[in-house]
Amino acid sequence: MRIIGIETSCDETAAGVVVDGRHLLSNVISSQEHLHAPYGGIVPEVAAREHLLALPATIRTALERADTAWEQIDAIAVTHGPGLAGSLLTGLSYAKGLSYALGLPLVPVNHLEGHLYANWLDAPEPEFPAVALIVSGGHTALFLASGHGAYQRLGGTLDDAAGEAFDKVARLLGLGFPGGPAIQRAAAAVGASPTAFKLPRAWLPGTADFSFSGLKTATLHLLQRLEREGEPAPVAEIAAAFQGAVIEVLVAKTVAAVAEHGARSVLLGGGVAANLMLREVLAERAPVPVRVAPVALCTDNGAMIAAAGYFRFHAGDRGSLDLDVAPSLPLTAQPI
Ligand code: KG4
Ligand code: ZN
Repeated sequence: MRIIGIETSCDETAAGVVVDGRHLLSNVISSQEHLHAPYGGIVPEVAAREHLLALPATIRTALERADTAWEQIDAIAVTHGPGLAGSLLTGLSYAKGLSYALGLPLVPVNHLEGHLYANWLDAPEPEFPAVALIVSGGHTALFLASGHGAYQRLGGTLDDAAGEAFDKVARLLGLGFPGGPAIQRAAAAVGASPTAFKLPRAWLPGTADFSFSGLKTATLHLLQRLEREGEPAPVAEIAAAFQGAVIEVLVAKTVAAVAEHGARSVLLGGGVAANLMLREVLAERAPVPVRVAPVALCTDNGAMIAAAGYFRFHAGDRGSLDLDVAPSLPLTAQPI
């Protein structure tokens, strides 16, 4: 079964074609990064307008690269939440139009479930129960997945998402947008042991919750102190200290959840899962296999929506033409 996945929840216009939820045929991402970079963050109105401009070519290229004609497509999967309302609306409306015009079933997909199902693409089947860590620009949360579609939220961030903290601290450091890759690059100059500065970790003991806003403020205070003292800010060292602090907490809480729930694998997903240090340290410390998709499938993409869409299609999920966007859609149990 061949599904095309369409994703426009944030600032990437993306489409991908996947066979049987597992085999990747194409994954085309049209990034708007250059449009938002001058503002240091995503401008929702600009994002929505750009999606509309980029969708036709992105979808056409995804089909071409998959060597697939519309007649060979069995369903259209589309992100309907969570995300920016205007961005979601553009992709969902476009997908509805295609579904109506071509007579193809429309399958609504939760963006967060998409991030998890990126781990099913051209990879060994992950084992349940799994602890899933979703870390992106908009979300940071731990889930227990006991089977397909069976999620229990264990905890999540009380303030900033991890990716959001990367983006904000990168801006403080003058490293540009998006901040995650920029901080990773800057920190790489320091090597593996970022010991020059110690930044705080919010452990929130006894919970699977996170908090990154204090770390962001501590970084700001450190920069302000250096400036008052007339010292130049050692950007690489501070980037490394920040990255180390975020990763230490993410990894420790994930490993604790694995032990507590007897999980047999860890599913890592979301844009921050592209971080090489997070991938490395989690794989090192977790007592069970860590499933993480290749970097291009960690950040927002259409293939992951097609992968999740396959499982949703078989669960009987269909979107009608009056389906609306759900900007705050949570990831809750919806058995498959
Ligand atoms: O999943 P995603 O593409 O979009 C959302 O659904 O939010 O995640 C984007 C986030 C951004 O905050 C970006 O800075 C972060 O993922 N990110 C990274 C890395 N690559 C992307 N964070 C840390 N290290 C990276 N290498
Ligand atoms: Zn995402």
